[in-house]
Amino acid sequence: MFDTPQTMEQLRLVAGRLLEYLQSADDRSCSVVDYRSPQDIEALFESMGLPLLPGQAQPARLYEAVSQVLELAVRTEHPRFFNQSFAGADPVSVVADWLVTTINTTAATYEMSPLPTLMERSIVRAFAKKVGFTTCDGIMGPGGSLSNLMALQLARHHKKPSARQAGDFTRWAVFISAQAHYSMKKSVVLMGLGEDALIPVPCDAAGQMMPDALERALGNTDREPLAIVGTAGTTVLGAFDPLAALAKVAQSHDVWFHVDGCHGASVLFSDRYRHLMDGAEQADSLAWNPHKMSGVAQQCSLLLVKHPTLLQDTFATGASYLFQKDKLFTEYDSGDKTILCGRRADALKLWLTWLVRGDEGFGMRIDHVFGLASHLRHRLESDPRFQIVAPPSFTHTCFWWVPPALRPLDLATLSDQERLGLHGIAPKIKRQMQAEGSTMMSYQPLGDLPNFFRWLFINPATTTEDIDALIEIIDRYGMQSLD
Ligand SMILES: Cc1ncc(COP(=O)(O)O)c(C=O)c1O
Repeated sequence: MFDTPQTMEQLRLVAGRLLEYLQSADDRSCSVVDYRSPQDIEALFESMGLPLLPGQAQPARLYEAVSQVLELAVRTEHPRFFNQSFAGADPVSVVADWLVTTINTTAATYEMSPLPTLMERSIVRAFAKKVGFTTCDGIMGPGGSLSNLMALQLARHHKKPSARQAGDFTRWAVFISAQAHYSMKKSVVLMGLGEDALIPVPCDAAGQMMPDALERALGNTDREPLAIVGTAGTTVLGAFDPLAALAKVAQSHDVWFHVDGCHGASVLFSDRYRHLMDGAEQADSLAWNPHKMSGVAQQCSLLLVKHPTLLQDTFATGASYLFQKDKLFTEYDSGDKTILCGRRADALKLWLTWLVRGDEGFGMRIDHVFGLASHLRHRLESDPRFQIVAPPSFTHTCFWWVPPALRPLDLATLSDQERLGLHGIAPKIKRQMQAEGSTMMSYQPLGDLPNFFRWLFINPATTTEDIDALIEIIDRYGMQSLD
């Protein structure tokens, strides 16, 4: 297949280069990003004779092209990268991901993926047991957004199986935290329920959905309740909704209870922090992304369901070219439990990472980043240059850098102009982070709160020294933003 020895040699070099890149993951002398404008990138590639729209074959440029991609990549494995809810992918999982691609199969059927099928089945059982489900089924998929969508479809099929054949015009209501992930909005739109079906329930100061407000919302709507969705680790504030209390409300109204544990469910690996998931065992379904806190390379995502046959009942179409009923071991086929056809054998990636790290390794990852979060909070709480936005409970700390003229910060007393000024500071600081490649951290407004930074920990390579150094760097950028 590789027709020239030259191409094979280039591929060998590339493999070595990729391993080197992984090995240098915690090298602090590298910047987090070499940030360039789209025009700069185009000009660079043009000048190197590497067109962004390749036509003519250039096999001898393979290694060079890969090196250039790495040069321009955001180093998400860098100990000072905090921009997203994934970071510091475990190198075992990165290599395992290559293994998944190397066997280039589909996990839809046992005949195509005998071993990954068995791995996925045992992973589903083991993860469901960690949640506390006594009965279960589950499926892996390409991300939490899809898991959340599928969970709502399960809820509808459970409540109204006729919708599958006849369609559905019920005016459903889906109750979510006011701070739920935006995939919930996409889900109701995709299901044809309309955005009006989404009922955001108010949260307390820490960002947790309030059970009494949920009760009120259920009482106030003339829509048919379809599902209550609790979030374990909200995207911005990192709040864990009070799952046990939400489950109680769901049970008393006979409504499906889904937990979006995409970010937070991995705390189940930690003896110290698994209590944050108390109540999840009462859910009907749960979404869990090991590609976030457990550091498995993207994508690695699980949807767990308490009702053993419901995935199949909801999604199966029984395509006769694929799921032949008289085929060997067809009862092991998992492809009809999802809305996808081809599926990556991601179970292999999770299995291999878990094999190498064990429960203990996944647990240590969690404990380490909670320790970092606690260090950061102590530092910021005692530093007048900063103000924490909301009481933190997870590894997220949201904060403002406060200009000297506004210290100590009291939002209630700010003039409109001062508020606008504060709102404009985070984007300026962020630009400096990108220009120097010192760190990457996201910022956002929330409700009527001006832009603030969200600093969240996932990478086990990050240290308290990184935090201390970055606090000073952020302060320097803040002061420069006033010039
Ligand atoms: C709480 C929560 N749910 C769902 C998602 C979506 O997960 P994915 O990016 O795998 O689609 C995210 C992503 O950050 C999230 O934070």
